[in-house]
Amino acid sequence: MKAAVLYEANKPLVIEELTLDNVRDNEVRVRVAASGLCHSDYHFMVGDMPHPTPLVLGHEASGIVEAVGSNVTTLKPGDHVVTCISSFCGGCPECLGGYSYRCDTKPTRGPQPASSPLILNGKPIYQFGQLGGFAEEMVVNINAVTKIPREMPLDCAATLGCAVITGFGAAVYGAKVRPGDTVAIIGCGGVGLNVIQGARAAGASRIIAVDIADAKLELARKFGATDFVKGGDDAVGQINELTRGGVNHAFEVIGIPATIRQGLLMLKKGGQLTMIGVPRFDAKLDLPALPFLQKEVRIVGSTMGSVSFMLAIPKLAEEYLAGRLKLDELISQRIALEQINQGYEALMGGGVARSMIVFNDVLKAASQ
Ligand code: APR
Ligand code: ZN
Repeated sequence: MKAAVLYEANKPLVIEELTLDNVRDNEVRVRVAASGLCHSDYHFMVGDMPHPTPLVLGHEASGIVEAVGSNVTTLKPGDHVVTCISSFCGGCPECLGGYSYRCDTKPTRGPQPASSPLILNGKPIYQFGQLGGFAEEMVVNINAVTKIPREMPLDCAATLGCAVITGFGAAVYGAKVRPGDTVAIIGCGGVGLNVIQGARAAGASRIIAVDIADAKLELARKFGATDFVKGGDDAVGQINELTRGGVNHAFEVIGIPATIRQGLLMLKKGGQLTMIGVPRFDAKLDLPALPFLQKEVRIVGSTMGSVSFMLAIPKLAEEYLAGRLKLDELISQRIALEQINQGYEALMGGGVARSMIVFNDVLKAASQ
């Protein structure tokens, strides 16, 4: 099978022919239908997050189950699934406490790369997040996939696995936005647009989109934003003016200290900044201390939507099928696996929300 391999940070991904190990007892093999180009993978491609190589990235995938291991009873070949990076063991204190997305002991095959199912030229290579979605097929743990209804188009479904659950979940399950709240979203890419639709679903009164790219502000309007602010030093002043003193909730969906700081400064009393964007591994924050006391503001992180993906993804699929969740509009372009480097160039150019790698033969088979 073909996969996009990262050999070295800041070098283009290379399409290689790999072999895939057989499924083990608790695993499934998935023929990939669609795989989204998330900004998180890009952090590894440019070395913002170091990772040993050779590595197959990609974590926002959908597909059709091809084979299941001997312990797998909940899925069978032919089922349609979405993968998620928040795989879980089900038995650690985090899982037992209801926080499976923070699982302490994620299920693995053993140390990487030796135990990876991805074999290149006879040698195992690293599988990102135990997934490796930039490939024609994946072998993953049963607790890293969830079944979705057959009516759900698999290209749209892939977005549920990261962009949607991360953004929508941060608003609904993480920050618990309430009806009437005012909300600002800094960074309206694939994830930020889903914070917008989460805030809308939660009943926010004003949803202020902040981005440096005009195309993203235009998209934000489609997803339910009510006000629009051009990103930059002036953003805080504009939001404080628009809201007469700040918002109840700010979400930072880029991962840079300057905009995290802005998120704090645009809060009204009792407000909360939720950090979603992944910062560089060595990033530090320089924040004014007094607002924490004077305004009782809070900063918290939200990872993978602060919710169990097995609970949330099937519900989000139903929301899409009922016409209450926008997914088609997230996919700016459909590309072949071979166009992955151009896809990332387009993401960094600011014009696209999600580029989606699609395998047309699989999508066609899925719709029959
Ligand atoms: N002010 C406002 N907006 C900005 C700024 C800035 N200074 N810098 C960048 N942006 C905007 C970009 O124009 C883009 O629309 O932030 C958005 C980032 O979106 P994407 O590149 O599509 O990234 P996405 O996949 O949404 O992920 C966002 O969340 O999960 C994490 O790792 C992920 O850190 C990444 C973040
Ligand atoms: Zn992602």
